[in-house]
Amino acid sequence: ALPRDLEGLRVVVSAGGTREPLDPVRYLGNRSSGKQGYALARTAAQRGADVTLVAAHTVALPDPTGVRLVHAGTAEQLRDAVHEASADADVVVMAAAVADFRPASKADHKIKKTDRDPDPVTLVRNPDILAELVAKRRDGQTIVGFAAETGDSGADVLDHARAKLKRKGCDLLVVNAVGEGKAFEVEENSGWLLSATGDERPITLGSKSQMATEVWDAIHTLRDR
Ligand code: C5P
Repeated sequence: ALPRDLEGLRVVVSAGGTREPLDPVRYLGNRSSGKQGYALARTAAQRGADVTLVAAHTVALPDPTGVRLVHAGTAEQLRDAVHEASADADVVVMAAAVADFRPASKADHKIKKTDRDPDPVTLVRNPDILAELVAKRRDGQTIVGFAAETGDSGADVLDHARAKLKRKGCDLLVVNAVGEGKAFEVEENSGWLLSATGDERPITLGSKSQMATEVWDAIHTLRDR
């Protein structure tokens, strides 16, 4: 059995990938499976936390037991759900892959094949939910971001991640190395944990639930100080 060391903690975890509709049947999406976010929610609940999981699109995953599950399809829906759930949360973990852009408009009807060339798709920027959470952070609230970084070397990935941690202003950044079959759609993850206080440590390759354990250990340590 896991330690009940997160008892009394109210946490929000977002997971999965948003889909931004082009028309009633088509969307722009991403390859997030939702597995890492679900593992984070499941582990927190097993360690005694009160957990709300805001889930975008995922592969078929069992509902984690003892977790409040809220579904959100698009970035804007996820934003509303996360803000609502975060109002009285102690910890917010943004593991969801939120689309940075969405089509400027959604066609009411399925876009038809025509003889002429297709219209270009115009994109507009989605709100950065993590940045919004940081801007309205409650006293004592811990905010955790994720970064999927591609780079030619570990050093590249870390440099990008340090810059992102600063830019986003979150307390902890979980960095995944992605590309060539890493992180997305696979069972194992590795990366780094960077804290705003300057701690940096590698997360060795392991299951997504092992990674969840390391992330919650780090959050616990941070909040204990
Ligand atoms: O800048 P980047 O998209 O790499 O940042 C990733 C982090 O920011 C993740 O924690 C993700 O959940 C969050 N994010 C967000 N809103 C967006 C884009 C990313 O909250 N529109």
